Amino acid sequence: MLLPIEPEQIIDLPFVESLCWEMLVEGATNRKSAMHQAVISTAKDNRAFMRTVVLRRVDAGSKKIYLHTDNRSKKMEDINRNEHLSWLVYDQTLRAQIRLSGHAIVHHLDALCNEQWAKTGHHSRRYYMTDQPPSTELDQPSTGLNEALTAFDYSIEESESGFQHFVVVETCIDWMEWYYTHSKGNQRAGFTYSDGSLSSATWLMP
Ligand SMILES: Cc1cc2nc3c(=O)[nH]c(=O)nc-3n(C[C@H](O)[C@H](O)[C@H](O)COP(=O)(O)O)c2cc1C
Repeated sequence: MLLPIEPEQIIDLPFVESLCWEMLVEGATNRKSAMHQAVISTAKDNRAFMRTVVLRRVDAGSKKIYLHTDNRSKKMEDINRNEHLSWLVYDQTLRAQIRLSGHAIVHHLDALCNEQWAKTGHHSRRYYMTDQPPSTELDQPSTGLNEALTAFDYSIEESESGFQHFVVVETCIDWMEWYYTHSKGNQRAGFTYSDGSLSSATWLMP
């Protein structure tokens, strides 16, 4: 578990940059981390649309972060059109907000999809097994799950039918901003990346 840092520890930009990626890795690997949930934003017709997703994977070396979603969902229309995603994570206990943005690559029915699908649990696969796509209008309150899905009455083999709807979205980060809150004063830093390598780093006026 990561501990919050004190202002005295904030010496240089490389420290802050590696701390951000450490927090993101912790977010992806520790379900109890506040950064396990992220808000992603897409753009459509000059309007931003946000929603919560689970931060599924972080490759700190190549500066890539990943989510899982249903290929039939509305967000995929935006991602396929713009090929861009913005992310927001915030952990009050770590006093840190991280904003990120970058080019989005959609993985469907490929090797990465297979790898991530293999990590999904039996019970979470049911959301990819529904006949009706996400955002279908319903005439009554409903989970959208049929009786068998509700009762987890399906085998792991049967759950493979959900794979056709499962996508992994990779974001190749080219921009990251850190915002640190403290009673002694807030601090802020910005980083840019090109092809997975750091290209600029600067302190920013909070
Ligand atoms: C805690 C939480 C975690 C969520 N995780 C995901 C996720 O990992 N992937 C996903 O597609 N939707 C996830 N959702 C649902 C989305 O926030 C969103 O409502 C849904 O994907 C439909 O979005 P869209 O219509 O913009 O595609 C999550 C919602 C909550 C509240």
